[in-house]
Amino acid sequence: MALYSDKVMDHFQNPRNVGKLDDADGIGEVGNAKCGDIMRMYIKVKDGVITDCKFNTFGCGSAIATSSMATELIKGKPLSEALELSNQAVVEALDGLPPQKIHCSVLAEEAVRAAVKDYYDKNGIAYDPEQFKIHDCEHCHD
Ligand code: FES
Repeated sequence: MALYSDKVMDHFQNPRNVGKLDDADGIGEVGNAKCGDIMRMYIKVKDGVITDCKFNTFGCGSAIATSSMATELIKGKPLSEALELSNQAVVEALDGLPPQKIHCSVLAEEAVRAAVKDYYDKNGIAYDPEQFKIHDCEHCHD
Protein backbone atom coordinates (compact mmCIF):
# COMPACT_ATOMS: atom_id res chain seq x y z
CA MET A 1 0.00 0.00 0.00
CA ALA A 2 1.29 3.47 -0.82
CA LEU A 3 2.40 5.51 2.17
CA TYR A 4 0.09 8.38 1.23
CA SER A 5 -3.48 8.16 -0.07
CA ASP A 6 -4.45 9.63 -3.45
CA LYS A 7 -6.34 12.35 -1.60
CA VAL A 8 -3.30 13.34 0.45
CA MET A 9 -1.19 13.50 -2.71
CA ASP A 10 -3.87 15.53 -4.49
CA HIS A 11 -4.18 18.09 -1.68
CA PHE A 12 -0.40 18.25 -1.34
CA GLN A 13 0.19 18.80 -5.05
CA ASN A 14 -2.87 20.99 -5.65
CA PRO A 15 -3.61 22.60 -2.30
CA ARG A 16 -6.94 24.43 -2.10
CA ASN A 17 -7.27 27.93 -0.66
CA VAL A 18 -3.58 28.74 -0.43
CA GLY A 19 -2.67 32.36 0.21
CA LYS A 20 -3.68 35.26 2.34
CA LEU A 21 -6.91 37.19 2.89
CA ASP A 22 -6.04 40.85 3.16
CA ASP A 23 -9.44 41.65 4.69
CA ALA A 24 -9.56 38.62 7.00
CA ASP A 25 -11.86 38.85 10.04
CA GLY A 26 -9.75 36.35 11.97
CA ILE A 27 -6.15 35.18 11.65
CA GLY A 28 -4.70 32.21 13.48
CA GLU A 29 -1.03 31.44 13.61
CA VAL A 30 0.21 28.29 15.27
CA GLY A 31 3.43 26.35 15.46
CA ASN A 32 3.94 22.65 15.79
CA ALA A 33 5.96 21.95 18.91
CA LYS A 34 7.20 18.65 17.50
CA CYS A 35 8.81 19.94 14.32
CA GLY A 36 8.79 23.75 14.44
CA ASP A 37 6.56 24.08 11.38
CA ILE A 38 4.25 27.07 11.20
CA MET A 39 0.75 27.59 9.86
CA ARG A 40 -1.34 30.70 9.36
CA MET A 41 -5.08 30.53 8.71
CA TYR A 42 -7.27 33.43 7.54
CA ILE A 43 -11.06 33.44 7.81
CA LYS A 44 -13.72 35.77 6.56
CA VAL A 45 -16.93 35.67 8.62
CA LYS A 46 -20.45 36.87 7.90
CA ASP A 47 -23.41 36.25 10.22
CA GLY A 48 -21.46 33.60 12.12
CA VAL A 49 -20.57 31.68 8.96
CA ILE A 50 -17.11 31.27 7.44
CA THR A 51 -17.59 32.65 3.96
CA ASP A 52 -13.96 32.34 2.89
CA CYS A 53 -10.68 31.05 4.22
CA LYS A 54 -7.10 30.70 3.11
CA PHE A 55 -3.94 29.33 4.62
CA ASN A 56 -0.18 29.67 4.40
CA THR A 57 2.20 27.19 5.85
CA PHE A 58 5.88 26.73 6.37
CA GLY A 59 5.36 23.07 6.86
CA CYS A 60 5.66 19.58 5.47
CA GLY A 61 3.55 17.95 2.77
CA SER A 62 1.16 16.45 5.31
CA ALA A 63 0.66 19.87 6.91
CA ILE A 64 -0.16 21.31 3.49
CA ALA A 65 -2.58 18.49 2.65
CA THR A 66 -4.36 18.63 6.00
CA SER A 67 -4.65 22.42 5.94
CA SER A 68 -5.99 22.32 2.42
CA MET A 69 -8.62 19.75 3.44
CA ALA A 70 -9.42 21.69 6.61
CA THR A 71 -10.19 24.84 4.60
CA GLU A 72 -12.49 22.81 2.36
CA LEU A 73 -14.28 21.41 5.41
CA ILE A 74 -14.88 24.75 7.16
CA LYS A 75 -15.74 26.96 4.20
CA GLY A 76 -19.43 27.82 4.29
CA LYS A 77 -19.79 26.36 7.79
CA PRO A 78 -20.87 28.11 11.00
CA LEU A 79 -18.06 29.00 13.40
CA SER A 80 -19.44 26.50 15.91
CA GLU A 81 -18.92 23.68 13.41
CA ALA A 82 -15.43 24.86 12.50
CA LEU A 83 -14.54 24.73 16.19
CA GLU A 84 -15.59 21.12 16.31
CA LEU A 85 -13.36 20.12 13.43
CA SER A 86 -10.88 17.63 14.81
CA ASN A 87 -7.58 16.62 13.32
CA GLN A 88 -8.96 13.08 13.15
CA ALA A 89 -11.86 14.27 10.99
CA VAL A 90 -9.40 15.94 8.61
CA VAL A 91 -7.25 12.81 8.49
CA GLU A 92 -10.32 10.68 7.78
CA ALA A 93 -11.41 13.02 5.00
CA LEU A 94 -7.96 12.48 3.45
CA ASP A 95 -8.32 8.67 3.72
CA GLY A 96 -5.66 8.53 6.42
CA LEU A 97 -2.10 9.58 7.15
CA PRO A 98 0.86 7.49 8.27
CA PRO A 99 0.99 7.35 12.09
CA GLN A 100 4.18 9.40 12.27
CA LYS A 101 2.48 12.23 10.36
CA ILE A 102 -0.66 12.50 12.47
CA HIS A 103 0.91 15.33 14.48
CA CYS A 104 0.99 17.42 11.27
CA SER A 105 -2.80 17.35 11.12
CA VAL A 106 -2.92 18.96 14.55
CA LEU A 107 -1.47 22.10 13.03
CA ALA A 108 -4.50 22.45 10.77
CA GLU A 109 -6.99 21.92 13.60
CA GLU A 110 -5.24 24.42 15.83
CA ALA A 111 -4.88 27.04 13.11
CA VAL A 112 -8.64 26.94 12.47
CA ARG A 113 -9.37 27.32 16.17
CA ALA A 114 -6.84 30.11 16.55
CA ALA A 115 -8.45 32.01 13.67
CA VAL A 116 -11.91 31.67 15.24
CA LYS A 117 -10.53 32.80 18.60
CA ASP A 118 -8.94 35.83 16.94
CA TYR A 119 -12.29 36.66 15.36
CA TYR A 120 -14.04 36.38 18.74
CA ASP A 121 -11.37 38.53 20.41
CA LYS A 122 -11.52 41.23 17.74
CA ASN A 123 -15.30 41.40 17.94
CA GLY A 124 -15.66 41.23 21.70
CA ILE A 125 -17.55 37.94 21.52
CA ALA A 126 -17.51 36.00 24.80
CA TYR A 127 -16.39 32.37 24.75
CA ASP A 128 -15.36 29.58 27.03
CA PRO A 129 -11.52 29.50 27.13
CA GLU A 130 -11.76 25.74 27.59
CA GLN A 131 -12.77 25.57 23.94
CA PHE A 132 -9.35 26.80 22.94
CA LYS A 133 -7.16 24.63 25.06
CA ILE A 134 -3.96 23.62 23.31
CA HIS A 135 -4.12 20.17 21.79
CA ASP A 136 -2.44 17.54 23.91
CA CYS A 137 -0.03 15.76 21.57
CA GLU A 138 0.52 13.05 24.20
CA HIS A 139 -2.57 11.47 22.74
CA CYS A 140 -1.36 11.57 19.16
CA HIS A 141 -0.08 8.31 17.77
CA ASP A 142 3.42 9.46 17.10
FE1 FES B 1 6.00 19.54 10.77
FE2 FES B 1 4.54 17.85 9.44
S1 FES B 1 6.61 17.60 9.99
S2 FES B 1 3.89 19.69 10.35
